[in-house]
Amino acid sequence: MILKEFFTYYFSHVDDEVRKIYAGLLPQEEDLAGAYAEMFSRHDEEALKFLLDFYSVSFKLCRENPRQAILFNVNDNVCFDFFLDYVWNTLTGEEQDKVFAACAVSSYEEVKQKLKKDVALRNWFRREIGSGLDQEELFTLNEVISLQNFSSGGESSFLQYVYPRIKDKSGRVLDGGCGAGFATLVMSQYMEVYSLDACQARLKRAHALAEMMKRGERKIFPQIISLIQKELGGIEVEYEFPDAEKLLNQKPKDVHFTWGSLDKLPYEDNFFHFINCLDVLEHTYDPEAIVKEFARVLRPGGQVFITAPTRYGEWEQRIHESIEGTLFPAMLHMHHFDQEILRDMFSRHGLREVEVVPFDFMTYEDFLHIAEKSPDGELAEDLKQKSFDKVALQLFAVYEKI
Ligand SMILES: C[S@@+](CC[C@H](N)C(=O)[O-])C[C@H]1O[C@@H](n2cnc3c(N)ncnc32)[C@H](O)[C@@H]1O
Repeated sequence: MILKEFFTYYFSHVDDEVRKIYAGLLPQEEDLAGAYAEMFSRHDEEALKFLLDFYSVSFKLCRENPRQAILFNVNDNVCFDFFLDYVWNTLTGEEQDKVFAACAVSSYEEVKQKLKKDVALRNWFRREIGSGLDQEELFTLNEVISLQNFSSGGESSFLQYVYPRIKDKSGRVLDGGCGAGFATLVMSQYMEVYSLDACQARLKRAHALAEMMKRGERKIFPQIISLIQKELGGIEVEYEFPDAEKLLNQKPKDVHFTWGSLDKLPYEDNFFHFINCLDVLEHTYDPEAIVKEFARVLRPGGQVFITAPTRYGEWEQRIHESIEGTLFPAMLHMHHFDQEILRDMFSRHGLREVEVVPFDFMTYEDFLHIAEKSPDGELAEDLKQKSFDKVALQLFAVYEKI
């Protein structure tokens, strides 16, 4: 439902020529928004071909004309109002009054204008109001966010860290928070994969791809890999994807897809040999409840692979936030970790640390460079006190059930 609302809003707010480009992907549609929402809920080949074109067009627009693109965290982007309106309608009267007071205005139109202009106010709104959204609201908004990219972010980490450790294994694996499903597709060639995510739009796409792979229709995969590579390149992750042909060339097994939340897993105790959970814990409300479930469904000797942002990742996020300002909590990381925090959290549930690999490094100079651009002078001052050579923004870690 929210996808239809979103497309209705978007198509009525973008420039005519942009609308025409999108209308060209689904010619002869009178109800363009409805047709778009429907395509995102279909599993067939036609829908997938359409989705690839949709992501290519959107990717190009993001680079060439970001004001008109499907982006939500830029203050002058056409989509920004959609998010504000959506969030505003979920607030209680008391919360709305708090916003009126913080903005020193008395109408919602004025609130909008203020939030658009004032970075610090937007950050206040995110911290004080946006982060109060409940899990269901965040999941709903996540459906719209998934329109921004085909990639769900963890593909290169999977190839670099998990794939080499798992490629000769067999048994049952949970792809927890499977996102766009790239890891699912690769693992389904030699393991029995159970994939679960809270975002229906992404899950449906992953499901459609798995079905196509099963039918032996793989012509589309090189296109998908090249799109993911382009998108990841756009967010400055350097990684060479191996040949699509080499990765996806065997006969896949069935994948069991489930729409749900990781803190309530619908599987028996001691069911899985492995759990793959990349770039997920930081987006969740209660990571510890999820780790507890992982410990329950993993069999003794089974392993969990995770990636997660470090507290330096948190600094980086704060710096960017203070420069651009943002409203939207689900896009951002709600938690940051370090090796000890993760080790303690997993060990409280009987999962011992096997390996930790820091990655995504940033030098002190790089940090200062962005911190100094920040209007929040305190941040740069804070960093100057904590000199370091080079720090990792993320960790890859493996835990094993005792
Ligand atoms: C950044 S994406 C990473 C996806 C994928 N693992 C990858 O490596 O590309 C985070 C994913 O976690 C999912 N997610 C967030 N909270 C969740 C929860 N409580 N239960 C299940 N999935 C969740 C989101 O819907 C999203 O698809």
